[in-house]
Amino acid sequence: MIRRRRAIFGFLQFLAASPLLRADKKYSELSDPMLRLANVFDFAAFAKKKIDPLAWDYLDEGSDDEVALRDSRRAFDDLIIRPHFLDHDVSKIDTSISLFGKKLDQPTYMTVTGGKNCFVANGEEEAALGAGASNSMMITGGSITSSLAQGKGPKVWWQYTTATEFRTKNQMVNFAEKLADQGCSAISVTVDIYQVSHRERSIHNGFVRSWCQGDGIPRDGKGQLIYKPNDVLWTTGDVPAPRPFPTPTWDIARSQFTPCDHQRCDDFGRYSEGRQVRPVRRDCFQSRRPAARSHRRHH
Ligand SMILES: Cc1cc2nc3c(=O)[nH]c(=O)nc-3n(C[C@H](O)[C@H](O)[C@H](O)COP(=O)(O)O)c2cc1C
Repeated sequence: MIRRRRAIFGFLQFLAASPLLRADKKYSELSDPMLRLANVFDFAAFAKKKIDPLAWDYLDEGSDDEVALRDSRRAFDDLIIRPHFLDHDVSKIDTSISLFGKKLDQPTYMTVTGGKNCFVANGEEEAALGAGASNSMMITGGSITSSLAQGKGPKVWWQYTTATEFRTKNQMVNFAEKLADQGCSAISVTVDIYQVSHRERSIHNGFVRSWCQGDGIPRDGKGQLIYKPNDVLWTTGDVPAPRPFPTPTWDIARSQFTPCDHQRCDDFGRYSEGRQVRPVRRDCFQSRRPAARSHRRHH
């Protein structure tokens, strides 16, 4: 457990560009394999060895056939970070920004990830401790009261919600006030409630999502999965029970959408089912794909 904790902790420190990982070490000090991890993919390989294979798939997989995931990864190769150390003074680099009145050391945050208990026991609190120690911003689903009460949680954090608390004005106000009292600086509304993603690795694995909100992946002494009669397996990617449409999240999001956002929704099919389909706005799609690789060579 200690090693798992250290793995997660180290990963968070990496995200925060921690001095631990930035500092050069003498050969004699390099007994800790964590210090040889050079990039986020090294951390991924390290984590894969530590966590249950089913938890790994849940963490690592993309939706459907994962073509979009591979496409996104390839697109990163087309991004070039150009160092400007010959024409700027880089002896003091300030990556801080202000966001909703709070200062962040770097413009990154720990993203919305439900179900961290599959990776480490009490995962949300562990992540909160890591965010606190590395001074990273966190978007949490809640349940980090213990680290916050100890003063060890994130200094800047947002709450994510699928907006179930937004059905009445009173609910909304109570929810916001409670969060403000705890030091939360913003609410992040996620849109993942209407359709559960079709995760093929998890479907093949007979994965039960609620394991990740409980005690992690249950196995017997021989390593076999233990199912309970009421366990709901990840099967088709549909929600187990029909949900009303529009959801509160959808109502909120719709009011914020630009015409191009609406067009993308139509393009991806959800909004248009049984509803009016607008004429295609070609201008919304001109810059959707990164420039082809050959484009790089011209620079
Ligand atoms: C294990 C895991 C759990 C996630 N849980 C949620 C969730 O509950 N709600 C949500 O909106 N997004 C969730 N996400 C999506 C992430 O917030 C994020 O959008 C996604 O990982 C892509 O981010 P990236 O481009 O930085 O990799 C989850 C992602 C992972 C890997």
